[in-house]
Amino acid sequence: MNNTVYFYFIFTLISCKQNNNKIPILTYDVNLGKGHFKQINFNPNDSLLTKKGEKLFIKSCVPCHAYNTKHSNGPSWEGITERFHPVWILNFMTNTEEMLNFDPYLQKQIKQYKLKMPSFNLDTNDAKALYSFMYLKDNTLYGKN
Ligand code: HEC
Repeated sequence: MNNTVYFYFIFTLISCKQNNNKIPILTYDVNLGKGHFKQINFNPNDSLLTKKGEKLFIKSCVPCHAYNTKHSNGPSWEGITERFHPVWILNFMTNTEEMLNFDPYLQKQIKQYKLKMPSFNLDTNDAKALYSFMYLKDNTLYGKN
């Protein structure tokens, strides 16, 4: 092999390798979403957490989410803890913008509601509190009478 051909051969090998490295690894998990929650490690039946969650719901979420009535701004929370994995809900509440960009279900919702849910910068404890509130609403008669 003359030197030029040899050079191109090596060059092609290197560029193939670099291209392979550049292929984005799509690791989005449609069940668990994307964020720092990997599992649920708290008791969603904690009544103190639930109270805190209810306050957050009233303060920040009622303009677009409701139980029993249909809102035009956002999806109803009726049965929400049965429709999604708890980790997905927790990740969405704390990593809203990124999940809106990746999640195929959320992309459909954006089209349906013609609205992107705003980020609330909820911390881990706020998210756990809100989840506890949702869990109690779905699993008891709390607020249903
Ligand atoms: C300005 C309206 C608005 C507010 C306020 C809002 N959301 Fe949303 N939310 C949406 C919309 C719209 C969607 C559907 C996805 C999309 O289009 O972005 C959504 C979807 C969700 C979902 C997924 C459930 C499903 O059935 O699709 C969760 C969980 C959620 N919101 C939590 C919250 C929490 C927690 C708060 C309060 C801290 C909140 N949202 C406040 C508009 C809102």
